Amino acid sequence: MDGTAAGPAQRLVTIVENRPIARDTYVLRLDDPLTASAIRPGQFLMIRPGGENDPLLGRPLALYNVVRDPGGTAVGFEVVYLVIGRGTRALSARRAGERLSIWGPLGNGFGPPPAGGAVVFVAGGIGQTPFLALGGWWLGRESCGGVSYAGAAAHSATLLYGVRTSELAAGIEDFERAGIAVEVATDDGSLGRRGYVTDLLRRRLEGGARPGKVVGCGPPPMLSALARMAREYDLDCDVSLENHMACGYGACFSCVAPIVQQGGGTDLRRVCVEGPVFGAAAVDWSA
Ligand SMILES: Cc1cc2nc3c(=O)[nH]c(=O)nc-3n(C[C@H](O)[C@H](O)[C@H](O)COP(=O)(O)OP(=O)(O)OC[C@H]3O[C@@H](n4cnc5c(N)ncnc54)[C@H](O)[C@@H]3O)c2cc1C
Ligand code: FES
Repeated sequence: MDGTAAGPAQRLVTIVENRPIARDTYVLRLDDPLTASAIRPGQFLMIRPGGENDPLLGRPLALYNVVRDPGGTAVGFEVVYLVIGRGTRALSARRAGERLSIWGPLGNGFGPPPAGGAVVFVAGGIGQTPFLALGGWWLGRESCGGVSYAGAAAHSATLLYGVRTSELAAGIEDFERAGIAVEVATDDGSLGRRGYVTDLLRRRLEGGARPGKVVGCGPPPMLSALARMAREYDLDCDVSLENHMACGYGACFSCVAPIVQQGGGTDLRRVCVEGPVFGAAAVDWSA
């Protein structure tokens, strides 16, 4: 079950494809067997969007999917990104065959699944991206970074996915193909149930569901609500934080989050090194 993940490296890799899959949302596939065989779900890459120096800094994007050849060898990986500013806009203009500078794999990634238990992923906005690879890994279908949970897999995986409107829903069929059930909530009721994604979780919990693990990724108010619900129902819950990042390797402290320490009190921790995955109860949501 165990394996040794390689450390982060900087390299130039070739774009295989970069295509829209929803409004302002793209899947970027990169040809990179080294990263693909080392990276684990929950880890991310700093991807420098521009060709030369503009923008200079990389942008953190989570592993979406490991790409394998017909023999099962990891040959590349995909990220899915939402265009929100200068970096992601520049990235959306890059074309297949061009080269990109990447740095990774970075961050701690997710731990093991609850063997035999049900897992529920709670995603808001573009927060679904870490959960495709994670679902395949925890269901024992995929080995990632040399680690397989085939003998201690989760029993089932469900993605609760909240977006503002149906046009922003990205990759639902990818999750279903991977054996992950999907339930959607939209603010405007254009897809799935109208309301917040945390309402979907509350309905399940009120109906008696007791997942072995809940994992959240999305905007801070959603994660804070999720953490409160996890406490109320005594759920094992992790969150993957998406704080702004500049360096990605622990030097600039631009990404810090307030984390409750074991002996009490709160200290700032770097999301790029000590995270992005933290226990929901460890994050000081009041800060
Ligand atoms: C570990 C990690 C994994 C991530 N994975 C993904 C992913 O898989 N897909 C994806 O689309 N995005 C992901 N993000 C967020 C992504 O890195 C940012 O959206 C991106 O860096 C924005 O760059 P930009 O140059 O386009 O926007 P900028 O020009 O830098 O910013 C545009 C606007 O968005 C705001 N903004 C920028 N970054 C963030 C942020 N992280 N949170 C809230 N507001 C922000 C800025 O304040 C500004 O108002 C991840 C972030 C982290 C830390
Ligand atoms: S991004 Fe520089 S320390 Fe985390």
